[in-house]
Amino acid sequence: AEETVTHSVTVQPFAQEIACEEGETVLEAAVRQGLFLRYGCRHGGCGTCKALLADGEVATSGSSFALSSGERAEGWVLLCSSRPVADCVVDVTSMELTEDEFRAGDQVGTFEAEVVEVDALTHDIRGLTLLLREPPSMTFRAGQFVNVEVPGTTQVRSYSIANAPQDDGRVELVIKLLPGGSFSAYLESAVAVGDRLRLHGPLGELKLRLSHRKVLMVAGGSGLAPFLSILRDMERRGRPRDVELLYGARRRRDLYRLEEIERLAAAIPSLVFTPVLSDADGEDWSGETGLVTELIARRFPTIEGYDAYLAGPPAMIEATVPLLTDRGVRPANVKFDAFV
Ligand code: FES
Repeated sequence: AEETVTHSVTVQPFAQEIACEEGETVLEAAVRQGLFLRYGCRHGGCGTCKALLADGEVATSGSSFALSSGERAEGWVLLCSSRPVADCVVDVTSMELTEDEFRAGDQVGTFEAEVVEVDALTHDIRGLTLLLREPPSMTFRAGQFVNVEVPGTTQVRSYSIANAPQDDGRVELVIKLLPGGSFSAYLESAVAVGDRLRLHGPLGELKLRLSHRKVLMVAGGSGLAPFLSILRDMERRGRPRDVELLYGARRRRDLYRLEEIERLAAAIPSLVFTPVLSDADGEDWSGETGLVTELIARRFPTIEGYDAYLAGPPAMIEATVPLLTDRGVRPANVKFDAFV
């Protein structure tokens, strides 16, 4: 019989040894052995599963914005994309997990949901409203996302939840249609009210943390969704924070839920909302123009003392994160979700 190579991985600060089988990622091995580590996308795109490799060696993959070259050089790895090639020690202190959370295992649930509405929010963005059936509700925080199984496959796609947490079992997703995308193809041609979809979640660390700092939200394209959730939640609870929301899109027709954000900005006086178009030529538009990074550079010569939350295409995240940290936002206070 062929022998499979197993490497031992010690997870600090919990001094917990796990066995990682050949081809298995550290994250998969930990979850399989009943432990919990923070994760989001599971494919190297979000940076949530970042940890220090204190000893040993792993084969890694993962995108550059989820882990900068500087972080790589310092020994940070993405546990969802790291397969040990020797015995290892990883340090997950930066995940800020309690020992109880770590030992409770993966609490992320699987839900059966029913399609109740499909909305054309723009020419290429759809709003998909689901009603959870089994179990009938999900406890999530504003700003989180779910992984949705593409019907008929085992693939999942990550989509932000746009509604505020409520007990009514509704989950409103915002989905950008991508040419050739399998979930896009389903949404464009096959989707019908009453369809059943399977979700996993809630996931993601974009949820607003408790602090007294001002908040900068930067949304690109369909990336407005988590901020809609956070702002709707803020309005519902009547607990406003000082928020600057910058919303970048290419053209006027790419902006969605504009009336609602304007209504929220009127209801939350501490919310300053600025849409910005990168391609306003020939548009009926008197607002800001240019890239969202250019708007930040113009408006904030310094931006110390803010918490920054970003959601949008990888290129926007990649360009914006260094701009914010150069202007004084502490790297630990920058959170992002990158979705295409
Ligand atoms: Fe590892 Fe997203 S879970 S990068």
